[in-house]
Amino acid sequence: MCGIIGLCYSSPRELGKLLYKGLLRLEYRGYDSAGIAVICERKLHVAKGKGMLRDLEEKLGFTKYTGSTGIGHTRWATHGAPSNINAHPHTDCSGVFAVVHNGIIENYDELKKRLIGRGHVFKSDTDTEVIVHLVEEYYRDTGDVYEAFKRAIRELRGTYAILMITSLEENKIFFAKKDSPLVVGVGDGYNVLASDIPAILDHTRRVVVLRDHWVGYATPSSVYVEDLATGKPVDYSAYIRLVEWSVEEASKGGYPFYMIKEIYEQPQALKSTIAGLKSSKELPLAVKAIVEANGRVFVTGAGTSYHAAEFYAIASSTLTGILAVPFIASEYEAYSESAREGDVLVAISQSGETMDVIKAVRKFKERGVRVLAVSNVVDSAIPRESHIALYTRAGPEIGVAATKTFLTQTLLLAWLIAGVAEYTGVLSRSEYSEVTSLLERAPRVAEISLERSEELARELSKSYASKSSMYYLSRHIGVPVAREGALKIKEIAYIHAEAYPAGESKHGPIALVESKFPVVFVAPGISLVEQAIKGNIEEMRARGAETVGVVCEGSPLKGLLDHVIEVSCPHWLLTPISHTPPLQLLAYYTATTKGLNPDRPRNLAKTVTVE
Ligand code: G6P
Repeated sequence: MCGIIGLCYSSPRELGKLLYKGLLRLEYRGYDSAGIAVICERKLHVAKGKGMLRDLEEKLGFTKYTGSTGIGHTRWATHGAPSNINAHPHTDCSGVFAVVHNGIIENYDELKKRLIGRGHVFKSDTDTEVIVHLVEEYYRDTGDVYEAFKRAIRELRGTYAILMITSLEENKIFFAKKDSPLVVGVGDGYNVLASDIPAILDHTRRVVVLRDHWVGYATPSSVYVEDLATGKPVDYSAYIRLVEWSVEEASKGGYPFYMIKEIYEQPQALKSTIAGLKSSKELPLAVKAIVEANGRVFVTGAGTSYHAAEFYAIASSTLTGILAVPFIASEYEAYSESAREGDVLVAISQSGETMDVIKAVRKFKERGVRVLAVSNVVDSAIPRESHIALYTRAGPEIGVAATKTFLTQTLLLAWLIAGVAEYTGVLSRSEYSEVTSLLERAPRVAEISLERSEELARELSKSYASKSSMYYLSRHIGVPVAREGALKIKEIAYIHAEAYPAGESKHGPIALVESKFPVVFVAPGISLVEQAIKGNIEEMRARGAETVGVVCEGSPLKGLLDHVIEVSCPHWLLTPISHTPPLQLLAYYTATTKGLNPDRPRNLAKTVTVE
C-alpha cells in the first residue's frame, strides 16, 4: 500500500513544503522510500530515495523545491526491493513525464518486454515504470498527452491509482483509478489529489472520492473526469461532499480504531493479494520447490502466523497428500534436528521481522533446507534470508492484533497448495482453474461474513464483556480458525479463551462447562466434519453452555445453536476467509464494550524482534 499526492496551482510556490507535509499525512500507510516531482517553469525536477521521510528530507531537501504542479509518493514495496532507483516518481526516457502509482500492474512483464523491444530503457525493477514509458510511446504517436495517457491506462491490467505530471503541460495532473483509493480535494484556485483524505484536509474539506475506471486531469480551476468503461464524461461536481473528520479520524478512515478499519479493509486486501498472485513470478518457483522436497515440508510462524501455518499443514495433506509438519517458531530446536538437505521450510511472518521465525529460518538453512518465506513486508529480514519469497498485499497493519494479514496469508497459502496439486497431477488443469476461480471469490466471501456478523457481534459483546473464560471449538480446517478466534479475544478483550479440536472435549475441557459458559463453534462446510461437530454441540448444550456457531449457508447445524452466523462457503480452502471475520468482530466489540483500546493491548507488541 503506497500513498500518493498531487497538487496543482496556477503559479510557482513552495510546493515541496506542501508535498512533504502531504506525505507525512500519508505516513500511516507505511513506507520504505519516498519521492516528489515538481514542474517549475516547464522543467521537471525529481527528488527521491530509500529511507524514512524525515531522513530523506534532510538528505534531499524536499521542502526546498518550488513549482506550480507536483506529485509525491510514499512507497510500500511490492515489485522491486526498497531502493533509491525503485522509489517513485518514475520518469520516461526523455524525462518529460513523471508518474506515481499505488497498486499492482499485473501485466507489467509483457508490457516491459514490448517497450524494451521498442527501445525504451528501464531504470527500475518496478511494475510502475511501464506506465510512464507507455505514455511516452503513445505521445510519440498522437502528440496529445491526455490521449496518450488514456491509451496507456487502457493497456493496464491490475490495480492502480495513478498521478502523472509533464513539463509539456505545466498546470495539469493526469489521474486514473481502479481498485486503489484516490480522492480529489476541490480547492479555490487549486486542486489536490491523494490516496486518502488525511492528506487533503490541510487544503480543503470539499472532496470527491473517485470511482473505478475514472480517468481525467485536474487543472488549478477545474477537474475533467470521464469513465473509461463507458467513454462518457462524468459530472464530478455532483460527487463533491464535505468532510467533517479531523486528520486523526481520517487516517483511521472514520473508524474509531485501526483494528476495525483493518477488519473492514479485508476484502480490498484480498483483492490486492489476488492481483499479486496472478502476476507472481515466485509462485511457480515455490510450487516447484515444494514438489521437489520429496514430501518433507515444515511450516512455521508465531502467533497468528502460526495459525496460518497450521492451516497450510491441514490443507496440504488434505488436497495434495503432501504432509507438512507445522511447528511454533520458537520451538525450532525441537524440529530442526530431523531436518535434512532437500527439505523445505515454509516460514510465515507478516512483518518478516519476528525473531523466533528468523532463528528457525537460520537453523533450518544451516541444515541445507530450502526456505520459502511468506510475508507482507517486501525485503524484510525473513524474505531476505529465504531462498524464495511470496508476498501478501494486505498493506501495513497498524493494530497490534493481526487481522487482514491472516486472511491474506491463508489465501496465498491456499493458492500455493492448489498450484502444488496441479503440478503433481492431483488436480487437472481445468480443476485447478476451477479451484482458483473459487479462491478469487475471497473478497466477496469476506464481505458477506462482515455484513452478516456485525450486528450479532455487537449484541453478544454485551454479555461476553463480563465472561472470564470461553471455548472455541472446531474440527479439520476449522481448527486453526478457532485458534485464531480464541487468540483475538484473549489478546484484546483479556478473556481467557481456549481453542482445541472439538473431539477433545470429553478428554478434559468439558469439565469446566456449566450454565451460560460461552462456546463458539467454527463449522466448515465439509459434511463429514459438520456431522461430527453436531455431536460436540449437543454435548455442550447438555451442560448448559451458550453456543454460537459460524456455519456455512444452509448448514444442518443451524437449529442446534443459540446464535448463528451463516457465511458463504464456495470452497473449504476459503474457511479462514469466511469464518474468521465474525470472530474478529466478536473480539473487537467485546474489547470496546469493556472500554479497552484494541489497537494497543497490554503487554503485547506488533512485532517481537527479541527471542
Ligand atoms: C506478535 C503479534 C501477533 C503476531 C505475531 C507474529 O506476537 O502480537 O499479532 O501474530 O507477533 O507476527 P508476524 O509479524 O511474524 O506475523
